[in-house]
Amino acid sequence: MTRYGFLGAGNMAQAMIKGLLNAGISAQDILVASPHSAAKLAKELGIQALDATELLQTADLVTLAFLPKQLTAISQSLPANLYQNKLLVSVIGDVNLNSLENAFPGAQIVRTLPNVNVSINRGMTSYALATNLTTASQTAALAFLDLLGSRIELAESNFAVFSALAGSSPAYVFAFIQSLAQAGQQNGLSTQDALTIAAQTVLGSAQTLLASDSDPTSLIASVASPGGSTEAGLKALSADKFNEVVIHGIQATIDHQHE
Ligand SMILES: NC(=O)c1ccc[n+]([C@@H]2O[C@H](COP(=O)([O-])OP(=O)(O)OC[C@H]3O[C@@H](n4cnc5c(N)ncnc54)[C@H](OP(=O)(O)O)[C@@H]3O)[C@@H](O)[C@H]2O)c1
Repeated sequence: MTRYGFLGAGNMAQAMIKGLLNAGISAQDILVASPHSAAKLAKELGIQALDATELLQTADLVTLAFLPKQLTAISQSLPANLYQNKLLVSVIGDVNLNSLENAFPGAQIVRTLPNVNVSINRGMTSYALATNLTTASQTAALAFLDLLGSRIELAESNFAVFSALAGSSPAYVFAFIQSLAQAGQQNGLSTQDALTIAAQTVLGSAQTLLASDSDPTSLIASVASPGGSTEAGLKALSADKFNEVVIHGIQATIDHQHE
C-alpha cells in the first residue's frame, strides 16, 4: 500500500488530494504537513496531518507542494537522512531539477507541473525525471500521476510554455465558456442552462478531438457547412481576430513568466 505525503496544504495540494480520494485511495494513506492549514484540511477530508519529519518517515512518495520561495527554508529544516532515496514529486513552479537536487541531495526527484483539473482526475501534468531516478521510483511516480489524469514528459525548457497552455489556460477556457453562456443568456436562456450547455459543449468537443484522427481544421469543416450559420459565426470570429487574440493571451502568459 503506497502512502502519499504532501508537504504543503494549499490549492494544488488540495486539488491533488481530492483527485487521489476520487481515484479510490484510502484517506488513511494520505498524509499532509504544513504550518497552518494541514490540520483543518485533514479534518475536512479525513486524511492525516503530521509534522514534516513524521511525514517524511511515513510516506512512500512525498509531493512538494509549497511555494518556490519556501524551498531553501523547508529543505534546510529537514534532516538529510529522512529524504535519502525518498521519492519526491515536486509541483513547485519555476524550480528546476538541478535546484531540487541541490535542495534535497540523495533524494529520488521528479519535477512535475499539474493543472487544477487533477481534482477530478482530468489533470494534464508535465513531468521531467532526474537522471539518478531508479526504475522503481519512475514506475511509482508515473503510477501516481496516472491517478490524477493525463501526463506528458517534457524537456524542462518547455515547462514555461506548458504552464501557459495547461496551467493557466483553464482560466481562459472558463472565460470562453462564460462568453458562450453570456451569448446564450442575451438570447433568452437562463444563466444555468446557458452555462450547462456551453460547458458540456466545450467538454464534448475536446473529447471528440482527442478521440478522432482529425485535426481541428477538419473538425471545424465537419460542423460548418458552406454558407451556413456556423460559417457566418466563424467569419465574424475571424474578423475580430479570434485566433490572434488567443495566441496573444498565451504569449503574454509566457512572457510574464520571464519578467
Ligand atoms: N495552484 C496551481 O494551479 C498550481 C499549478 C501548478 C503548480 N503549482 C505550484 O504548486 C505550489 C503550491 O501552489 P499553491 O497554489 O498550492 O500555493 P498555496 O495555496 O499558497 O499553498 C502553499 C502551501 O505551502 C505551505 N507551506 C508554507 N510553509 C511550509 C512549510 N514550512 N512546510 C510545509 N508547507 C508549507 C502553506 O502552508 P499553510 O497553508 O499551512 O501556511 C500552503 O499550504 C507552488 O510552488 C506552485 O508553483 C500550483
